[in-house]
Amino acid sequence: MVTGKPLLTVNQIQDKVIELAGRISTDYAGKDLVVISILKGAFMFTSDLIRHIRVPLTIDFITAKSYQKDKSTGDVKILCDIKEDVRGRDVLLVEDIIDSGITLNYIRERFLQMSPRSVKICGLLDKKERRIVDVPIDYRGFEIPDVFVVGYGLDYDNKYRNLPYVAIFKKTSEEA
Ligand code: IMP
Ligand code: MG
Repeated sequence: MVTGKPLLTVNQIQDKVIELAGRISTDYAGKDLVVISILKGAFMFTSDLIRHIRVPLTIDFITAKSYQKDKSTGDVKILCDIKEDVRGRDVLLVEDIIDSGITLNYIRERFLQMSPRSVKICGLLDKKERRIVDVPIDYRGFEIPDVFVVGYGLDYDNKYRNLPYVAIFKKTSEEA
C-alpha cells in the first residue's frame, strides 16, 4: 500500500520538470536531439518533460526490465527496442529512477555502440546510496533515500503507475 503523504508532490515534480527541460533546451540548441524514454517507468516523466523542451526533437522508446516486484534481478532484458537510427545524433536517455545503476549502465553502453554523436542521461529520481555501477547523470531531478517508491510512472508489480505524485510504498501481507 501507499503510505502517508507524497514523498514528492505534483507541484514539486512539475517545477523540477520545467527546470530540467529548460536546461535541456539550452544545451541542445542546434543539435539533433533524440529523446529515448526507458519504459515503462519513464513514460509519464518523458511526456511531461518533452512538453517543456523548446528545441526540435525526435522521440523513441525502449522497454527494459530488470525488476521482479521490488527486487532487482541484476539481469537487464530489452523487451522492445528503438526504431530510430541514432548514428551521429544526440541521444538523451530518460529514466524514472536510478537505483543500482545496472539498468542504465547496460542501456548506455548499448547506445554508445550505435555511434551516436553524444549520449546523456536525464533521471527523475536518484537513490544514490544504492549505487553499484557508476553512471553519469547529466540531468537529475531529485536525490531520494533508500525507500521503495511508486507513482508518476513508477510501479510495484506493475501497479500504482497512475498516481500523479511519488509516494513511499510498503508491502501489505497480500501484496508481498
Ligand atoms: P537499477 O538497475 O537498480 O538502477 O534499477 C533501475 C530500475 O529499477 C528503474 O528503472 C525502475 O524500473 C526500478 N526501480 C528501482 N527502484 C525503484 C523504486 O523505488 N520503485 C519502483 N521502481 C524502482
Ligand atoms: Mg524503469
